[in-house]
Amino acid sequence: MSLAGAECSRNGKVDGHPPYFRQKLYAVDPRDLSRAKTLDDFLVRYAQFLRNCAKALEPNGKLAVLMGDYSDRREGFVPLVYWTKHLAMAAGLRQHCTDIVRFSHGASSSKKTYTSSFIPGLHDICMIFELAGE
Ligand SMILES: C[S@@+](CC[C@H](N)C(=O)[O-])C[C@H]1O[C@@H](n2cnc3c(N)ncnc32)[C@H](O)[C@@H]1O
Repeated sequence: MSLAGAECSRNGKVDGHPPYFRQKLYAVDPRDLSRAKTLDDFLVRYAQFLRNCAKALEPNGKLAVLMGDYSDRREGFVPLVYWTKHLAMAAGLRQHCTDIVRFSHGASSSKKTYTSSFIPGLHDICMIFELAGE
C-alpha cells in the first residue's frame, strides 16, 4: 500500500504530508507525487493516496493531512485544500474538526528545488479526518 509522505502510528492515527503538487520537487523517481506531469495526474494519484490512508485507519482512528494551496505557472491557482476535502470525502472519510492553520511565512528548504523563485504559500492547513459512518 502506498502511503506517500504518510506515517502510521500504533494509536490508530495516520499522518500525511504529501507534496503540494509540484510546488517543491522531491525524489527524482517518477512515482513521487511531486513529479506528476499534470494536475489531473496528481489528483488521480492523490485520490489513491487518500483511499490508501482510509484503508489503513482503524475504527475511531484519525487521519491528519497537511496540505496547502498552490499557484502553479501552468495550471494557475490550485486549491489543494479543497481537493483534499473533496477527495477524502469520496474516499469514505469525513472531517473530524475545524481546520488547523499552520502559518509558514517564508518557509523554504535548501534541499528542495522550487519551480519558481517565489515561494507562494503563506500558510497551510492541517485537516483531521475519520471514517464516515462512525
Ligand atoms: C511535503 S513532503 C513531507 C515531508 C515530511 N513532512 C518529512 O518531514 O519527511 C512529501 C514527501 O512525500 C514523498 N512522496 C511523494 N510521493 C511519494 C510516493 N509515491 N511514495 C512515497 N513517498 C512519496 C516525497 O518524496 C516527500 O518526501
